[in-house]
Amino acid sequence: MNNELNIPRHVAIILDGNGRWATSRGLNRSLGHKAGFKNLQKLSKHIFKKGVKILSVFAFSTENFKRSKEEVDYLMNLLVNDFKKIIDKNQNVKIVFSGRRNNLRSDVVRSIEQIESTTKENTEFLLNICFNYGGKSDIVDATKKITKDILSGKIAIDDINEENYINYLYNSIPDIDLLIRTSGEQRISNFILYQSAYAEIYFAKALFPDFNCKEFDKVLKDYSTRDRRFGGIKNSN
Ligand code: IPE
Ligand code: IPE
Ligand code: MG
Repeated sequence: MNNELNIPRHVAIILDGNGRWATSRGLNRSLGHKAGFKNLQKLSKHIFKKGVKILSVFAFSTENFKRSKEEVDYLMNLLVNDFKKIIDKNQNVKIVFSGRRNNLRSDVVRSIEQIESTTKENTEFLLNICFNYGGKSDIVDATKKITKDILSGKIAIDDINEENYINYLYNSIPDIDLLIRTSGEQRISNFILYQSAYAEIYFAKALFPDFNCKEFDKVLKDYSTRDRRFGGIKNSN
């Protein structure tokens, strides 16, 4: 069945709508994040089974610190207590985190490092969890690293190009093929900017806890109909 589909190598998802999912049920927003995380556990396995090699997810933005202390604490505790459950011994998935770490709680940073080191030898799939991530901070921090390397004489200005620039980002992850945002919002909200330059974008109506494997399969089908021209001319012409 997969033969008919054009499977993207790198899928990225803006996991949005957890709060609305909870409040529409009369529940605290935190329970929406709990349901969203449960969904992510199932969905990520399914996505890799479909043959996608890299999955990036937006779990916490640099701007999400604007939320109430209760909600921010819940999300930080979810990372410390639950995120390790996403490691599946039956799937060869390397997990990396992208984002700033200097203003995170030390137990959060410890959990991130533990998950990364437990899975670092895995080679088949890559799960990139964007946590305390901002597309702008990724580019700004990369620029600082490049400037340091130039000033110390490690590289020359002309050594930098569009391909090796990614080596200075939080994680040198290749371009996104398919970018999905759930919950009906139609914006990027400071998610990965550099590697989404030619991403096909899909805005799904479902709130993230309802965005199940079947919903993802619908998106895959839609992706297969897209004609990716990369600035060139339509394939059939
Ligand atoms: C989850 O969705 C994504 C995070 C920022 C953790 P939201 O919490 O933004 O849910 P809505 O958009 O308020 O419904
Ligand atoms: C984007 O969702 C960030 C994550 C999914 C982690 P938000 O809910 O924070 O974005 P806005 O505020 O609606 O743009
Ligand atoms: Mg939201």
